[in-house]
Amino acid sequence: MTDFLWVEKYRPQTIDNVILPQSLKQTFTEIVAGGELPNMLFSGSAGVGKTTVAKALCNQLDIDCMVINGSEEGNIDTLRGKIKQFASTVSLSGGYKVCILDEADYLNPQSTQPALRGFIEAFSDNCRFILTCNFKNRIIEPLHSRCSVYDFTIPNTEKPAIASGVFKNVCSILDRESISYDKKVIVELVQRYFPDCRRIINELQRYSVSGTIDAGILVNMSDENIKSLVSMLKGKEFKQMRSWVANNIDSEPAALFRRVYDSLTDFVVPQSIPQAVLILADYQYKNAFVADHELNTVACMTELMANVEFK
Ligand SMILES: Nc1ncnc2c1ncn2[C@@H]1O[C@H](COP(=O)(O)OP(=O)(O)OP(=O)(O)O)[C@@H](O)[C@H]1O
Ligand SMILES: [Mg+2]
Repeated sequence: MTDFLWVEKYRPQTIDNVILPQSLKQTFTEIVAGGELPNMLFSGSAGVGKTTVAKALCNQLDIDCMVINGSEEGNIDTLRGKIKQFASTVSLSGGYKVCILDEADYLNPQSTQPALRGFIEAFSDNCRFILTCNFKNRIIEPLHSRCSVYDFTIPNTEKPAIASGVFKNVCSILDRESISYDKKVIVELVQRYFPDCRRIINELQRYSVSGTIDAGILVNMSDENIKSLVSMLKGKEFKQMRSWVANNIDSEPAALFRRVYDSLTDFVVPQSIPQAVLILADYQYKNAFVADHELNTVACMTELMANVEFK
């Protein structure tokens, strides 16, 4: 059933097949070779391979593992029950087990995270933990200090190589699914959503029902979508705008500001354009510093709504 989704069907099963910056690749390869898995904390943006690496390590080391999702099962009692039950029974293969705690930054830092600190120690004989998160500053210090911390952010110098790896990877998925495609379109799609592999693969699967990937996949995302956003701004439909942003926020929100900027002449009355440019520039600048991109983008749209006159 889950294999209906390409992201699951083509999730790499070994570290070798995960596209990673060199230093991370080397570290994880060494862990596989050494056979010993420490408690770890993986941080990084969405869809870059954190959960995939955690699963691949367990797979290659032949370790029993359990995945708990922090945003869905963050309740302390559920968590305690699950971890206890899993960690206190003996592994079939004899060694220790691994509990992969996905989206650990959603665990309450006042209650659940401190409790986890206790679990890590209590079960240290037969259970290791791999925590994954998007924002490592939301994980309390005592958990950092109990884990080896790995940041999945791709260094600028390695971006071209990784992007080209992602490109080859998605082309091979399309080949295996017998979907024809225009290489230039794939390049642009990868650039748009990079480094979010999940998003890239999901967009391709969504569009592939027609059997071929053409420039439509790009238009689909931008033009029609921007049009509907603008009509919400014009109609001052705050609620709809908020959910639009939530659904469309890219891994690189700066691209959204740029797309709105590019379409100003089509949608905004001429005397309002300078004001709109100032607002977009201001929020694009803030974009580099904010912790929550969705919130920042909604704030920008709210300001456009209030201060700009639309055609
Ligand atoms: N580095 C990668 N190399 C190859 N495929 C990848 C990579 N990263 C992600 N993918 C693809 O995207 C899917 C989702 O990746 P994964 O679950 O590892 O993301 P994540 O980093 O845990 O994201 P999140 O923070 O949203 O949980 C994988 O199943 C795989 O198909
Ligand atoms: Mg994950």
